[in-house]
Amino acid sequence: MTTLYEYAFAKLNLTLDVLGKRDDGYHDLKSVMQTISIRDDIEIDIGTGQPWCLKCDKEDIPTDERNLAWKAAKVYLDAMGKDADGLEIRITKRIPSGAGMGGGSADAAAVLRALNRHYGDPLSIYALAELGARVGSDVPFCTIGGTAMAEGRGERLRKLPDMPDCFFVVCKPEFSVSTPELYRKLDETAIAKRPDNTAMESAILAGDIEKVSQNLINVFDPVVTADHLELNYIKSIFNAYGSIGQQMTGSGSAVFAIVTEFEFAAVICNMLKGNYPQVFIAKPV
Ligand code: C5P
Repeated sequence: MTTLYEYAFAKLNLTLDVLGKRDDGYHDLKSVMQTISIRDDIEIDIGTGQPWCLKCDKEDIPTDERNLAWKAAKVYLDAMGKDADGLEIRITKRIPSGAGMGGGSADAAAVLRALNRHYGDPLSIYALAELGARVGSDVPFCTIGGTAMAEGRGERLRKLPDMPDCFFVVCKPEFSVSTPELYRKLDETAIAKRPDNTAMESAILAGDIEKVSQNLINVFDPVVTADHLELNYIKSIFNAYGSIGQQMTGSGSAVFAIVTEFEFAAVICNMLKGNYPQVFIAKPV
């Protein structure tokens, strides 16, 4: 039996544009995505000789084939024609669920990377990401990580230079939003403000954190905020204590601020933690 270890980093959407509904029911999107230092830890025992099992230190995470990490292992082994002779996947969860931070997708991507390494890296990282699209829309980006432009359903990826250094404060309110429902709602909404992905890309290329912060736009943000005004409260705290840009990530409900000094991040955390126990400081990774 061999044990594999892999980190699973959360993601944030710096921009998120939804371009239209496709024939397959999914939506075409365009998004600048970033992995951050909030992470789950993945351990995989391979060759246990036992039926597959998945353990997670947090309740309310599925521990069977519904878990994206389990799905990823199955997709990888089926595609490569391998028999692992029993798997045990253990997940130490830190990424909040229902946050728009890609927690399940990050775990799945980590499983893909770990298994691919175990078998001697037969797939390139891009081929591995393509395989990840079978597991979920955010899995391809989470496989590659760093800073990237995602298009299509999320499977067409173009690596960007690392975003300029900064701190993120991420706050996950108690409520969560159903992603399919939110897409349906967006279909009925006229999108007032879309991101300028070219401007975001230029800001990243120039290493200009102010411009990156000014170009944060997520088309889902106003739709969720309309129903959950507390997002405005969190953003007002961000704004009052040194944030240079803030918005919701993915389909929510987590919101994040960009700050340039750790001290600002620490003060924002202190201001929020009474009402919001799930508040984190992170860096781009
Ligand atoms: O692929 P994933 O399971 O992450 O997607 C969850 C749901 O979000 C899909 O069932 C779909 O309703 C919606 N979705 C979409 N277009 C995308 C990504 C997700 O409509 N590009």
